[in-house]
Amino acid sequence: MFITFEGIDGVGKSTQLDLLEKYLEAKGHEVVRTLEPGGTDLGQEIRHLLLHRKGEVAPRSEALLYAADRAHHVATLIRPALAAGKVVLSDRYFDSSVAYQGAARELDVAEVRGISLWAVGNLVPDLTVLLDLPANEAMARRSSKGTEPDRLEREQVEFFERARDEYLKMSSEERFLVIDASQSPEQIHQAVLDRLAQMEL
Ligand code: TYD
Repeated sequence: MFITFEGIDGVGKSTQLDLLEKYLEAKGHEVVRTLEPGGTDLGQEIRHLLLHRKGEVAPRSEALLYAADRAHHVATLIRPALAAGKVVLSDRYFDSSVAYQGAARELDVAEVRGISLWAVGNLVPDLTVLLDLPANEAMARRSSKGTEPDRLEREQVEFFERARDEYLKMSSEERFLVIDASQSPEQIHQAVLDRLAQMEL
């Protein structure tokens, strides 16, 4: 079982990943919790280039660096874990590239999706939880945390609005569960558990 969490920065993905990881472990599943970018050693170096290196990164280069991180992540961590019968929980996956590089960065959505699918050999999640919040609310939550913004987080509200709109468009695919992220963490967690119960996990 491969489950991914998506949404613009500030919607509360980490909290939900924590809750789901604990729940699944308590049920006796072997869980691999991971993230993009940076789920592997190589990925951590790519993450640094993408988020913390000084200076410009051309949009197509940015898209390819995310794809490079993901290709290595899938090949060396995600596929082996799934083959061993583990549950993989990932904080972001290729839908992030479609929303951020395709829509927000205004590269072509279909092209970015194509590059991403090539990078992962067409590995699509069984379930994708989309935490949805208007961009201004997500940004307000983020700034209240007081952490230093990374390169992507320094973008304007319009950038995150384009990403959010694209997430909502893609969420008609059956693997998506869209949750209103203005609810309490417990309510959101329960919505995830309800969906898992339908999937018999
Ligand atoms: P994330 O780890 O979620 O941020 P944080 O550590 O602040 O919680 O993701 C880092 C940033 O990378 C985030 O702004 C979204 C962006 N991103 C993309 O633009 N494209 C992608 O394919 C991925 C995976 C992330």
